[in-house]
Amino acid sequence: MTILVDKEKQLFTLQTKNTTYQMKVDRFNYLYHLYYGKKIDQPDLSYLLYDGPSHYAPYPHESTDKVGSLTLMSQEYPSAGTGDLGTLALDLQNSDGTHVADLKYKNYQVLDGKYSLEQMPSFYAHNDQAQTLKITLVDDLSGIEVELFYGVFADLDIITRATRISNLGKQAVKLQKAQSLSLDLLSGDFDLVHFHGRWGSERNLEKLPITHTTTTLGSNYGVSSAKENPGFLVTAKDVTEMSGDCYGFNLVYSGNFNATAEKGTLNQSRITLGLGDSQFAWQLEPGAMFESPEAVMSFSSCGLTKLSHNFHDAIRNNLCRSKYEKVRRPVLINNWEATYFDFTGKKLVEIAKAAKKFDADLFVLDDGWFGNRYDENRALGDWFVNEKKLGCSLHDLVEKINRLGLDFGLWFEPEMVSEDSELYRHHPDWALNLPDRKALLGRNQLVLDLSKEAVREYLFERISDILDSANISYIKWDMNRPITDWYSKSLTDQGELQHRYVLGLYDLLGRLTRKYPDVLFEGCASGGARFDLGMLAYEPQIWTSDNTDPINRLKIQYGTSFFYPISAMGAHVSVSPNHQNGRITPFATRAAVAMAGTFGYELDATKMSPEDQKQALAATKLYKKVQAMTFNGDSYRLLSPFDQGNLVAWQVVSKDQAQSLLTVVMTDVVTNPAFVYLKLRGLDENANYKVADKIYSGQALMNAGLKLDPLKGSYNSRQILIEKIS
Ligand code: GLA
Repeated sequence: MTILVDKEKQLFTLQTKNTTYQMKVDRFNYLYHLYYGKKIDQPDLSYLLYDGPSHYAPYPHESTDKVGSLTLMSQEYPSAGTGDLGTLALDLQNSDGTHVADLKYKNYQVLDGKYSLEQMPSFYAHNDQAQTLKITLVDDLSGIEVELFYGVFADLDIITRATRISNLGKQAVKLQKAQSLSLDLLSGDFDLVHFHGRWGSERNLEKLPITHTTTTLGSNYGVSSAKENPGFLVTAKDVTEMSGDCYGFNLVYSGNFNATAEKGTLNQSRITLGLGDSQFAWQLEPGAMFESPEAVMSFSSCGLTKLSHNFHDAIRNNLCRSKYEKVRRPVLINNWEATYFDFTGKKLVEIAKAAKKFDADLFVLDDGWFGNRYDENRALGDWFVNEKKLGCSLHDLVEKINRLGLDFGLWFEPEMVSEDSELYRHHPDWALNLPDRKALLGRNQLVLDLSKEAVREYLFERISDILDSANISYIKWDMNRPITDWYSKSLTDQGELQHRYVLGLYDLLGRLTRKYPDVLFEGCASGGARFDLGMLAYEPQIWTSDNTDPINRLKIQYGTSFFYPISAMGAHVSVSPNHQNGRITPFATRAAVAMAGTFGYELDATKMSPEDQKQALAATKLYKKVQAMTFNGDSYRLLSPFDQGNLVAWQVVSKDQAQSLLTVVMTDVVTNPAFVYLKLRGLDENANYKVADKIYSGQALMNAGLKLDPLKGSYNSRQILIEKIS
């Protein structure tokens, strides 16, 4: 059984294959958290609860023995006004100005299958893969009802959470904070590992101790952002890749978010995660309902690798409904770094023709094909083909490329408008802009107000028209500036706008992906500034970073790999010297690093040397051979780019342990280096493996290690295929 309810003791237990999560309703009808961690079969863990005196802390009026202060208790969903003085999950203002929701347990329901959300994407289950527990809490006085949803994917060791807040009272209330998840860990010393960055350097790993001060992570960029990813880890001090306790938390959301970690007065650790609350306010009229985005969490008692596998498996199988999650993805060639804005239709066909020689499957026409878009300063919003620039219709261009044997894909940046555009001239009020002030510009562009239906309708129509006009099988959905100027004329409460923007985006993406199920959507936001589970629910892959330098990419892809699988990470081979930082690297290293993602090219294929062309053909061939394994198998981080060594290594192993690809990249040159014995992972201990032309036992490779011949030369790398022979 996945969900166990002990009605007498009022205990709720969620059991997954390797984890247990338990809650209890106490004598005052509050819902407390007892435990989340390694699986425990003992059904009642209530002895863990704090039952000491409240001292001077406020306790519930019913408590004649002066115990049960909510600031000392591990509340499952801490709310304002109840005496919990820590970080809250719910804060609302009643019509009389008070901040209180005294949430008491009302009832529960166990449902077959996985709950879903009405307006936002969420994980889904296949057949009877998941169960749902719904616990309802209510504040009798105001009539505010809070339903806590738990989606339990037992086999995946994944638990999802979401909250639905309904106003069953007679007065409107204003939500000021409505988090998706709060979790109190009663004991233990933990580190917080988060993934921060900036353009060109996304998802750097940083580790901080969780202390008695509150650490807050989040984004105010309007998108989940390169500044901070919504996925973060809480780990035991001694955690390693292959041992120790660790938790992972993430949010299925693409806008502003907020997460906190702190130790309470009794040294319990509280984690919260949900919508960003800096400008958030949501008017909840009587009869209205508000749902929070879905949070997802997992626990591993055997290290970070297993935790990543849990997320990778769930993301690959239970999040995105695109057929491309299962169908082989194309090797693409994108013209951005090849031409930027400077191209003609003829030039594009030449690039496609040259790329066919190294077996690319899909040609992607990036920015600059529409309106008056000759540079980055104009025409966003004018989604009409610039036939003059292409020298033909889009239909004809696509036909030419199709005839070469390549599919065709197109870049859009639908959420934006340039001041210098027909769209802005006709609808200045469609852009987000504070009244009577000049809007802030980012890349010389403004953001469209996606909370407006008319804006979404325009974009739906324009994109549909283009897709219907030619045989287009891929869209790169870009978004290239943080959102500021939060004001929409059509809203009475501007506090709703940030969330309504994201709901509008999901509405539009949902409509388009349902209408065009055969189109592969790839996300992008100035590189990887919106790399999150919300976007991955619509788009199976996201451009990981504009930085295509393979050595910088080692860190970017390493940080990204803690939550997101290889199949989600857009990665291309570009030219050397690299356009972003001028570094010179061997072709083979660029290819090896791009193979730790959705492999493609971003260079002028007509200008490649015969040697590079030869290498490209070999790389595409190898990628096509291993793609099923890298997309569906298990990844292992062997040597970290954040460590001091001169080698970075990772390995992918097929689920049946029959095949593995080891990649080693040299980040610095060492003269007269010592031999490296690299202990491999994930192989079958009882099998023999062929590595180059030698045979090793799985046991030897994993315990004694593979002896690597020293590499020479700058940024050299090696890809080693490992195949089971018995
Ligand atoms: C962003 C993207 C790039 C490219 C350009 C086009 O920077 O991240 O990949 O598409 O926009 O303007």
